[in-house]
Amino acid sequence: MPTETASEPARSARTIPLRHVLPSLLRDPVNALVEIGATSGGEIVRLNLGPFRPYLVTHPDHIQQILRSNSASYARDGVFWRPLRRFFGDSIVSDGQEWKRSRKVLQPIFTARHVDSLTERMAGVIADEVEAWSGKLDIGQPIDMAGPINRTVTRTIVQTFFGDKVTMAEAERLVTALDSIGTSVVFRFLLPFVPEWVPMPGDAAFRDAVRKFDEVFFPLAQKYRGNDGSEDIVSVLCRAQELDGRKPSHQWIRDNLVSMFASGIETTASALTWVWPILSANPDVAARLYAEIDEVVGGGRVTGAHLAELPYMKRVIQEMLRLHPVAWVFNRLVMTPQTVGGVALRRGDTVLLSPYATHRLETFWDRPYEFDPDRFTADRVRGRHRYAYFPFGGGPHMCIGMHLFEIEAQLIIGNILGRFRPVSCDPQIVTPRIGASLRPREQVQVMLRPAAECEKDGYEPVPR
Ligand code: HEM
Repeated sequence: MPTETASEPARSARTIPLRHVLPSLLRDPVNALVEIGATSGGEIVRLNLGPFRPYLVTHPDHIQQILRSNSASYARDGVFWRPLRRFFGDSIVSDGQEWKRSRKVLQPIFTARHVDSLTERMAGVIADEVEAWSGKLDIGQPIDMAGPINRTVTRTIVQTFFGDKVTMAEAERLVTALDSIGTSVVFRFLLPFVPEWVPMPGDAAFRDAVRKFDEVFFPLAQKYRGNDGSEDIVSVLCRAQELDGRKPSHQWIRDNLVSMFASGIETTASALTWVWPILSANPDVAARLYAEIDEVVGGGRVTGAHLAELPYMKRVIQEMLRLHPVAWVFNRLVMTPQTVGGVALRRGDTVLLSPYATHRLETFWDRPYEFDPDRFTADRVRGRHRYAYFPFGGGPHMCIGMHLFEIEAQLIIGNILGRFRPVSCDPQIVTPRIGASLRPREQVQVMLRPAAECEKDGYEPVPR
């Protein structure tokens, strides 16, 4: 329920002074937002960052108002989006008319029905990839899990959604460039008042990475102008004029291809890197998850039919995105004056929304730092505010790939854990690295032991 009462005059938000907010934001931005959210008790607060003074919004009522009820009064523009504009362009990851048009064209590919129809194809790609690990990876030796996970996610998205019009060699180069995009914009995120023409660290790496995307996606936009009858993203974008009578420009096709490639791969791969430290830090959760997978899948290939039989795995994934939401913070720009939580917001103000902070508010989450997948049983979800949990956002910009992620994540985790038991080399829960998405800062080093061997010899989630 929105907290507004029309008769109450709007007030100014409490401001956190520069000397408090700047050092902690520069040292550890993720936890600085959590701390400010916790001490404000869900009130909107203003962060004094000198020339830039955004509002931090953590209360689910207020998030609902901004993302859904009054979404038309806010634009997806400003601090986080402007530095990425040269990358995403006028695509589905923008706002206004071009966003609307892109969403209309791409939506049919991501409906639950269409994604479900692709599940077996994805299941095949993922099972082939994980089966091949035994021959390719150094099983039993420490492995940085980011590598094989990136590769599996990339192959799945490229083969299922790009119809092999992007080669794996190209895709792997782009994934490296994507990582560089995510880290090179950090200074611009943290110091958004610095004008674009002032050079900053990371600018050259950013330009170089964008050029790599241009080199792959502009030629694709030119090549597939006709209707080749395929349902992949490239073909659907290239024949988009049939839907609204307007011929799409190469730039618009390039922008949307880049956006879909980036959001489809980076988010999923980042999210799945958190599985391993979570399992080693929570052996009871791990044991229950292995038991479910062993019973349902039994070490074979996971198919679409198995997914309905893996409810605990689904809850583990939901809880993983509660504590480690990949989109840890995003923003909106106020377009018309608003009152939220009794606070007056003016046109041009920035509001920051942080799933990471809201997902840790004690008012909405009992023992918020504990990893407890059973928070997501139907009974417990029913009693909770819809916007206490928003890893995929909400309202008109709600993540188009949510259902796809849920299926892909279950297929990947199920195939890996059906065959292997991860033994963590560093049982600490790793700290997040700041970038466009939330990834562990350190490498996630894991030894994979064949599950069948563990059954015979016993299994320890961390080395003794
Ligand atoms: C762990 C997985 C994922 C997370 C946590 C996630 C999170 C989000 C969030 C928070 C938003 C809303 C941004 C905003 O309101 O400004 C969003 C939007 C979006 N996501 Fe995802 N995402 C994930 C996976 C995916 C996948 C697999 C795809 C595509 C294949 C995808 C494509 C998109 C697109 C295109 C948008 C923009 C939608 C629009 O504005 O209309 N995402 N995502």
